[in-house]
Amino acid sequence: LSKKVEMTNWEKGHYINYAKMNETLNIVRQRLNKPLTYAEKILYSHLDDPHGQEIERGKSYLKLRPDRVACQDATAQMAILQFMSAGMPSVATPTTVHCDHLIEAQIGGEKDLERAKSINKEVYDFLSSSCAKYNIGFWRPGSGIIHQIILENYAFPGALMIGTDSHTPNAGGLGMAAIGVGGADAVDVMANLPWELKAPKVIGVKLTGQMSGWTSPKDIILKVAGILTVKGGTGAIIEYHGPGVENISCTGMGTICNMGAEIGATTSLFPFNENMYKYLSSTKRKEIGDFARSYAAELREDEGAEYDELVEINLSELEPHINGPFTPDLATPISKFKDAVRENKWPEELKVGLIGSCTNSSYEDMSRAASIAQDALSHGIKAKAHFTVTPGSEQIRATIERDGQMKTLEDFGGMVLANACGPCIGQWDRRDVKKGEPNSIISSYNRNFTGRNDANPATHAFVTSPDLVVAMTIAGSLNFNPLTDTLKDKDGNDFMLSAPTGDALPSQGFDPGSDTYQAPPEDRTSINVAVSPQSDRLQILEPFQAWDGKDANDLPILIKAKGKTTTDHISMAGPWLKYRGHLDNISNNMLIGAINSANGEANKVHNSTTGEWDAVPATARDYKRKGIKWVVVGDWNYGEGSSREHAALEPRHLGGLAIITRSFARIHETNLKKQGMLPLTFSNPDDYDKLEPDDKVDLLCTQLAVGKPMTLRVHPAKGGDAFDVELSHTFNEGQMEWFKNGSALNTMAKAHKS
Ligand code: F3S
Repeated sequence: LSKKVEMTNWEKGHYINYAKMNETLNIVRQRLNKPLTYAEKILYSHLDDPHGQEIERGKSYLKLRPDRVACQDATAQMAILQFMSAGMPSVATPTTVHCDHLIEAQIGGEKDLERAKSINKEVYDFLSSSCAKYNIGFWRPGSGIIHQIILENYAFPGALMIGTDSHTPNAGGLGMAAIGVGGADAVDVMANLPWELKAPKVIGVKLTGQMSGWTSPKDIILKVAGILTVKGGTGAIIEYHGPGVENISCTGMGTICNMGAEIGATTSLFPFNENMYKYLSSTKRKEIGDFARSYAAELREDEGAEYDELVEINLSELEPHINGPFTPDLATPISKFKDAVRENKWPEELKVGLIGSCTNSSYEDMSRAASIAQDALSHGIKAKAHFTVTPGSEQIRATIERDGQMKTLEDFGGMVLANACGPCIGQWDRRDVKKGEPNSIISSYNRNFTGRNDANPATHAFVTSPDLVVAMTIAGSLNFNPLTDTLKDKDGNDFMLSAPTGDALPSQGFDPGSDTYQAPPEDRTSINVAVSPQSDRLQILEPFQAWDGKDANDLPILIKAKGKTTTDHISMAGPWLKYRGHLDNISNNMLIGAINSANGEANKVHNSTTGEWDAVPATARDYKRKGIKWVVVGDWNYGEGSSREHAALEPRHLGGLAIITRSFARIHETNLKKQGMLPLTFSNPDDYDKLEPDDKVDLLCTQLAVGKPMTLRVHPAKGGDAFDVELSHTFNEGQMEWFKNGSALNTMAKAHKS
């Protein structure tokens, strides 16, 4: 195990450390003394402190040391801006950035890419220069979708990776525990802090039998989604095992893991097997495959490993499925689909079929799709519905161009889009139907929530395998089952489509296509990070000020929020996404969705210095200008929802000191601490009711100590004596330094300098 094998062909000096993983795992093995699942093995072999770590599935918080970080372009902006403010010369953990989310599909790959490069120039320039500066691998627009590139170049069995995108688990197809996170977590790992994860439960999915005919790997996850539903995987890793695993291609396993995100799973995993070895060899990483073989016993579950829940699927009996509309867990087998269309009155005409995306754009997917298209062409017919093809990477695009699948798909009527997310993330200038017009589309993507693809809430979006997308596109109707129904050829004769066929890997090897990778240069000192001071999309972050060491007196309550206050209420998405890289601009959405208990309205609060009613961000800015710190009072489970770090950055940026609630969602509470804020809770939650929105408060910050309560002195607006309320907190020693230094990043920067 002491061999020196590089993690990837794109970087030098980062070796796969199976020896260290084995050593760490053995420490935990001795402590737990029981058979382990593969998911546990990967996590435990990456523990920061294997001797001292408390370990209980579903309960403990594991401190982990991931091998890699991957960011897509929309989330990378704020992650890198924060990292920059730590003042470190380079990332501590190998990191890559992938430009895939900002390319809009309109008229076809090349032109769409050129347009995106010009619209997003300043964002791309910033990412390219900051990646070069901080030693981050940069995959330019046109290179492909993050998860495809990770599978092709970076994933390896037994590894742990975090990525700032929900479908990061795609790399489970190569036996990697790859977990989607918010930007704040990525910044921690880039800056060498351990990464915290609640020890997940492990759901086992046992596969037996063998797929054939029209059934494909996508149908496994469509079926699992139907069984477990969109919430069923929450807080769990889905671990596939059993004899059925052996016959699934590596990219097929990637598809299954990818879409595990739709059932809320932390990640999904397959054990190391022959098909992974073949894929590693085919993508020029045979050495990694050989090394993995030498560690193979630990790259799968132990005999007798226990799962918190077990699902069994017999692949020989598995039917092709179509899931949707509007939710990915509404699973219908193809034999019942026509009935479901009729009963639910889903629009029967199929308007558009879309194949590709990070979920389903492998060589195998494209080959099988092309085989069906070729079958139609040989009968003199083409796609009846509109048809788009999104290659997952430049390598896939170039290889299917060389091997002919692309020509077949184009002859069939397909429009080949850029190697990017495109319609999957709503980057689609769709013109064939009007907004509000009910219509059906079918894709090989993973998500189909209302409006996701085309912003039309009346679009019924179905997800399925690329095979069924092509078949339904030929029929131009949802009222078609290729396993049983005939089509008319060009002369009006009936014929049935043959079941799809296609190689898992190209026999001539992959064609890498054009060079879309930018490696960080050797000498990075002279690189300037490109951010225009006039930019409204990007802004360099200044480090937050350290605590002044004093109690804070006479603070106004910016808002006493009532009821649900999610991270969407605190930092709304939608049109604000444009400003993700500009903290001052995006702060204009701070808390605009929260309901003020004073008037039951959103975004209308009383400015205690002027007596005026104004918007929340405007009022906070006014206090900040006047040098007045402020607090927010919140209700139960404040900050639930996505892990969006902007929800913590914004109140800090606009001069907030503390968020005082009945309770917090844990991730948001930690995010606030990281930004140097004080997340505090009422020791007695009923004290929430004692505070009036116009009261002033003193916060005795000097009392902050691990495990000790703090005092909030309340000066009632209606007059009368001040009274004290006891507040609790969950700061540990290390986190207290974050508050004192102004943020976790300031603390890292300080440690780095000394
Ligand atoms: Fe992109 Fe859609 Fe995948 S947005 S990363 S192709 S889920």
